[in-house]
Amino acid sequence: MLVALGLLTSFLSFLYVTAPSIRKFFAGGVCRTNVQLSGKVVVITGANTGIGKETARELSRRGARVYIACRDVLKGESAASEIRADTKNSQVLVRKLDLSDTKSIRAFAEGFLAEEKQLHILINNAGVMLCPYSKTADGFETHLGVNHLGHFLLTRLLLGRLKESAPARVVTLSSVVHHAGKIRFHDLQGEKYYNRGFAYCHSKLANVLFTRELAKRLKGTGVTTYAVHPGIVRSELVRHSFLLCLLWRLFSPFLKTTWEGAQTSLHCALAEGLEPLSGKYFSDCKKTWVSPRARNNKTAERLWNVSCELLGIQWE
Ligand SMILES: NC(=O)c1ccc[n+]([C@@H]2O[C@H](COP(=O)([O-])OP(=O)(O)OC[C@H]3O[C@@H](n4cnc5c(N)ncnc54)[C@H](OP(=O)(O)O)[C@@H]3O)[C@@H](O)[C@H]2O)c1
Repeated sequence: MLVALGLLTSFLSFLYVTAPSIRKFFAGGVCRTNVQLSGKVVVITGANTGIGKETARELSRRGARVYIACRDVLKGESAASEIRADTKNSQVLVRKLDLSDTKSIRAFAEGFLAEEKQLHILINNAGVMLCPYSKTADGFETHLGVNHLGHFLLTRLLLGRLKESAPARVVTLSSVVHHAGKIRFHDLQGEKYYNRGFAYCHSKLANVLFTRELAKRLKGTGVTTYAVHPGIVRSELVRHSFLLCLLWRLFSPFLKTTWEGAQTSLHCALAEGLEPLSGKYFSDCKKTWVSPRARNNKTAERLWNVSCELLGIQWE
């Protein structure tokens, strides 16, 4: 028993001593482009914290007018004033957007379109994970509703402006866990069977399929789109799971920082010459392998049509 404890302590000490080099190894790619964004307009969802906030900070540093679209305006204002002070860019604006309510999404889009004549970068970043079973204001299972359908509707409503501002880009945050996801058309709202881990995986697969289908439909418009796995990042995403909060704390030296987690989103939003890779999935600033389910064009098209039906919209 004592020997085992000794070995475990030595192993943990070894891990913690070597953590910086191990973490450097897992830190992943860095967005290296020098593209500047003065005169450009960006919308980022869920940018009051985590990966979105770091993405907003870098885009603001490069001179863009950045809209932080978030459900809690007070949290958004606190992030915005920190970013303004840090980047000396006063053009960091906060607008209310609750992706779990299509009325709020429509109100945000209406306000934005009235206010801005251009939109060059839309980053569908916000997300929820491991929520106990619940439904959005419109009766959608929360992961599907917020992570997929909310961003689907938002993109639809802002697409005209993106096209008018082309070249423009749409970046959608997915996850490596899309590999475990499945689009369960017979039970999309998880009413027959619900597992909160899988519900997140399904919604992240939906993000990859949405990006794939969107790219097809945007060909020739000058608007391109990319799906992103940011890495395993120290953020508030695990807030609904006590176990994951504990694990995240224990392994925090090995997880990416939010700055590192923002690099692939930034790469997809900014890197020159990425247009031929529209519709692809990126991790560590490189195009990366997706699951066979995420390459299925029939599923992508069917999900697109079902999403339109659920939202009561037309998107030819
Ligand atoms: N962290 C990781 O390891 C990891 C790995 C793979 C993929 N991702 C993806 O990366 C993205 C960013 O995650 P993160 O790690 O930065 O998580 P985070 O720190 O929890 O940030 C998530 C953001 O989404 C917002 N949000 C949640 N529900 C919303 C709603 N209904 N309407 C509007 N905004 C809402 C949150 O707002 P509040 O602050 O008000 O809750 C927060 O600003 C997510 O899409 C996530 O799935 C993260």
